Amino acid sequence: MKILAIETSCDETAIAIIEYEGDPRTSPLYVLSNVVLSQIDLHKEYGGVYPSLAKREHAKNLVPVLDEALTKACLKKDVSSLPSYNKEELKTLLEREPDLFNQCNDYIPKIKIPEIDALAVTAEPGLEPALWVGINFAKALALTWGKPLLPINHMEGHIYSALLHNTETEEKKYTLSSVTFPVLALLISGGHTELVLMRDWLSYEVIGETKDDAVGEAFDKTARMLDLPYPGGPEISKLAKRYGEKREAKKTITLPRPMIDSGDYNFSFSGLKTAVKNTLHSFPKITPEIKEEMAYEFQEAATEVLVEKTAQAIEAYGVKTLIAGGGVSANERIREALIRRLTKERVALFLPPAFLTTDNALMIALAAALREAEGKNKHIPPERFSEIRAHGTARLGSSV
Ligand code: KG4
Ligand code: ZN
Repeated sequence: MKILAIETSCDETAIAIIEYEGDPRTSPLYVLSNVVLSQIDLHKEYGGVYPSLAKREHAKNLVPVLDEALTKACLKKDVSSLPSYNKEELKTLLEREPDLFNQCNDYIPKIKIPEIDALAVTAEPGLEPALWVGINFAKALALTWGKPLLPINHMEGHIYSALLHNTETEEKKYTLSSVTFPVLALLISGGHTELVLMRDWLSYEVIGETKDDAVGEAFDKTARMLDLPYPGGPEISKLAKRYGEKREAKKTITLPRPMIDSGDYNFSFSGLKTAVKNTLHSFPKITPEIKEEMAYEFQEAATEVLVEKTAQAIEAYGVKTLIAGGGVSANERIREALIRRLTKERVALFLPPAFLTTDNALMIALAAALREAEGKNKHIPPERFSEIRAHGTARLGSSV
């Protein structure tokens, strides 16, 4: 089975192609291509992702990213036929993206239909204008190539990306780690902070979530208060490390650990952000030392809350496997704290490889492959494409 997946939910335009036989949980999975084009440099100016700019950039970049993905996967060389399609139908599908229509109308007739079995696309959650470009592009390809289209939830991708690891013998060959249920997933990104309990494959119960800001958002906002560029997570992490390495560093800042004793699995990060703001205001001058200490203390506070709540949920639900995923799971301090805390428990821990922590389409292809193995994919044909819609705030397991 070959799946081509498209991801445009935020500020990465990504396309991946995977190939496997049978069940991807027990047989190797070949990553034929995994192309990610980040828009971070463009959004830096605004200090965050600007939805209409993200949409425009996706529309501009999808065809070149597709071309790179097909080339890397050697799928432009095959012998299948050139597509024949109704140009008007394609125009209607892409009526909101005229530039993308022009690019598609120029590109698609020139390349042979690639030998893939299905297209997968992130349909939820994310920035709706950004999601729509990817969905419409996927519909255009599925229509012209005559392939089924599979809508996928982005968070589902973040969960399973932690299980993927390279076999080392071959660059493209990956296998999936085996898990024991119940599995707990700690999903930490720019838009989400969730603890998801899984009693089986593709079964999700959100047992805790943030009541306000996502942890990645708190990293980004704290970074902005410290005059650091977007995305703030890696910047905070760098400053915090510098402070942590100074043995003589004095501790003058203490931030709260919001909701740490709330007795449930929910989070709150907006109070932490306000505490950063108020503490910064209490200093007559913000020196580089204060910035370093603030980054350190903020990261400690966020880490402690995340790790403590996760450990409580592991205990309460008899969890056997912990998975972390999402952009913030790249954070070294959080990774180290999870490892340290969980070595005492009898829990297997899986963290995504660094290149899969931030948004990518490989995780979307992987989620599609797992849904396929469980017979849970909706194979949507062109006449039912109107069923595939962007759901900006959809919860795991609710719509696709
Ligand atoms: O998963 P992701 O790429 O996009 C969303 O779906 O939101 O996550 C992006 C978030 C940003 O808030 C970014 O600051 C954060 O992940 N991030 C980090 C680190 N690397 C990225 N946060 C903390 N430490 C990091 N090293
Ligand atoms: Zn994400």
